[in-house]
Amino acid sequence: MSTFQAPKGTYDLIPPDSAKFLAVREAISAPLRDSGYGYIETPGFENVELFARGVGESTDIVTKEMYTLTTKGGDQLALRPEGTASVLRAALEANLHKAGNLPVKLWYSGSYYRYERPQKGRYRHFSQVGAEAIGTEDPVLDAELIILADQAYRSLGLRQFRILLNSLGDKECRPVYREALQTFLRDLDLDEETRRRIEINPLRVLDDKRADVQKQLTDAPRLRDYLCDACKAYHEEVRALLTAAGVVYEDDEKLVRGLDYYTRTTFEFVHDGLGSQSAVGGGGRYDGLSEMIGGPALPSVGWALGVDRTVLALEAEGVELDLPVTTSVYAVPLGDEARRALFAVVTGLRRAGVAADFAFGGRGLKGAMKSANRSGARYTLVAGERDLAEGVVQLKDMESGEQTAVALADVVAELTTRLG
Ligand code: HAM
Repeated sequence: MSTFQAPKGTYDLIPPDSAKFLAVREAISAPLRDSGYGYIETPGFENVELFARGVGESTDIVTKEMYTLTTKGGDQLALRPEGTASVLRAALEANLHKAGNLPVKLWYSGSYYRYERPQKGRYRHFSQVGAEAIGTEDPVLDAELIILADQAYRSLGLRQFRILLNSLGDKECRPVYREALQTFLRDLDLDEETRRRIEINPLRVLDDKRADVQKQLTDAPRLRDYLCDACKAYHEEVRALLTAAGVVYEDDEKLVRGLDYYTRTTFEFVHDGLGSQSAVGGGGRYDGLSEMIGGPALPSVGWALGVDRTVLALEAEGVELDLPVTTSVYAVPLGDEARRALFAVVTGLRRAGVAADFAFGGRGLKGAMKSANRSGARYTLVAGERDLAEGVVQLKDMESGEQTAVALADVVAELTTRLG
């Protein structure tokens, strides 16, 4: 151990577990890439104001959880706590919405930072794969995104997740509901902080996990009863499209997301094996966000799936991923001359597309064979002076144990054939 440790609330991804994270990112992004989403990468930090305006001044993310800093030049920056505001900022900056091809469909993958109280599944540095479809109001797009996330989770072998679905209304009907809810909440017996929340973000009070609060909320006005006709029709269409696609979801009126930009469709993927941090992914429509950050009206929808929690969900379900083989051939040289000869073979194999590794450091046969075993290689190549004198290497099939001498000049071709 060194003097230093990973900062509180963070952890390192190290082999072999790190392979699972790569596989999860790949599985989540594959359906997006096949559905017209282009890859976007934005900086790990942005102007703090982007998140204050975009994610919302009343959210925990902005008020408590942002890592902010002032640069030597005096810029106020924040490590990104989420991806949507950045992706929309980048799309607007590059005028992607003006290229006459709406929606602009983008996917991304990266690190995000929130100064949260760490616990299992909740970290200060975590990883998301996300998707945003910018500039089109069409329930088919909302359905597409939910279906693609469902497909991604299923392709990984996850089964014990549920999709929670809600509509938060739009700028017409939500303010009316908000006021009705505030009037109701102000009469309840609540602590100071919750009272403050009623004034800033009353919908979040519905999300309060405490039993004594929940008890008082039984008769709270329901957003469903306040949705305008356009929002109702839109939501019904999303529901019908999901049903037609065979995607099972649960209507959850209490689903209020922790970011302020949502309008209409909101959804969360929850996994029942994860305890309190059960949301493996979430998203929704954000029709007003572009205007909030100074852009034109661009109704949009998206989601982000948490890679860390998806890996935990896989472990909770006992799903073993079919991880790609990392090493197919492991070469063990005995002596200097063999080292040069086998290293040339390994280089040749790699150039031919065969994953190959090498016993470095002039190790003895026993130790090197242990490493060969640990590498999971299907074949090992061993050569000593006598082999080289005969112009051969010993090729061992690690599954059958069978060993054959193969001419040094033929070994790359032989292995390429055997490994298909
Ligand atoms: P979010 O619900 O804040 O949404 O985050 C999405 C997912 O990221 C969560 O469901 C969770 O799996 C993971 N996540 C969030 N915070 C943490 C944490 N502290 N530790 C581990 N995992 C975490 C968003 O970020 C929105 N930008 C999603 C979106 C995209 N909406 C529209 N487009």
